[in-house]
Amino acid sequence: FARETIRRLGQVRAQLGRRALILGHHYMSDAVIGWADAVGDSLALSRLAATQKEAEFIVFCGVHFMAETADILAGQGRRVILPDGGAGCPMADMAAPEQVEQCWQELARLGHGPIIPITYVNSSARLKAFCGRHGGAVCTSSNARAVLAWALGQGRRALFFPDQHLGRNTALALGLTPREIAMWRRDAAVLEGEAAQARVIVWDGFCPVHVEFGPADVARARARQAGVKVVVHPECPSQVVALADDSGSTEKIIGLVEAAPAGSAWAIGTEINLVRRLAARFADKTIFSLNESVAGCPDMAKISPTNLLASLEAILDGKPRGVVGVDEATARQAAVALERMFAVS
Ligand code: 13P
Ligand code: SF4
Repeated sequence: FARETIRRLGQVRAQLGRRALILGHHYMSDAVIGWADAVGDSLALSRLAATQKEAEFIVFCGVHFMAETADILAGQGRRVILPDGGAGCPMADMAAPEQVEQCWQELARLGHGPIIPITYVNSSARLKAFCGRHGGAVCTSSNARAVLAWALGQGRRALFFPDQHLGRNTALALGLTPREIAMWRRDAAVLEGEAAQARVIVWDGFCPVHVEFGPADVARARARQAGVKVVVHPECPSQVVALADDSGSTEKIIGLVEAAPAGSAWAIGTEINLVRRLAARFADKTIFSLNESVAGCPDMAKISPTNLLASLEAILDGKPRGVVGVDEATARQAAVALERMFAVS
């Protein structure tokens, strides 16, 4: 990036001081992450947005649902800025509230209730509000297990959206059998699987990035490096998780690599920016992508030093741009589902 952009960023950042808090998700590029005051996974960044009371502006280097979540949790008097309004998450868009309502009514008509709805944080504020209204909760990849166990512990069924893979992987990790997991198909508005046995019903959404990692990538990594540990994000298909040595959120993946001895080797199935950063940070370990050609998230890549600078300059000029706002009624109901997540995890 142009030296002038970097120079201006330094200046504007210093001028804003504590008025702005810059949060960065682990999937940001190196050019952006260096400007973040705090870096983390979805859960850690949500917690920060909920607890920090000083900054007037939270500049969220991530994607739209993360900024929305921060806005819900940050409360009155704070505004959340997304440097590129077009940075979304295709998975979050796979569960439109109207489709969710249709599914909910159909499941009730078929006599599948009562059901606890759980939404992955990668979802719209309206979907979080739906969960808040219906006794459900939000989860992230760090706490999906605790949240799903909480729902099932109430002796009920759970409806998990939007990510079928996180839902299925978490249900399997809790000891459910594949027959106890059914899937709602949006296109046909039908339940696929043995509906009567189902304890967890997953929505049919997926992450277009993580779904591309396949069993052949695991085999290739093991052939390339003897003794390699394969670790993948739980948004990967269950066949890949089953072949991997471990799976977990970005924060868990980082923790595993940090704790590993020098000389160990890691093939990582998640976004490429994080994998490259780990490889650079731990030069005494062999760290590579499970499949570099599929591992870039185009939406995360939309945040750049250029649009970050424009966001900060707009704040300084008193005309903030890219403010992400959630209406009060939606925010109130979504906050209920988020608070349940914090209480459970
Ligand atoms: P984490 O919850 O691990 O931060 O992941 C967020 C995400 O978008 C993964 O694709
Ligand atoms: Fe969404 Fe996947 Fe990108 Fe994460 S990696 S933001 S789930 S598209």
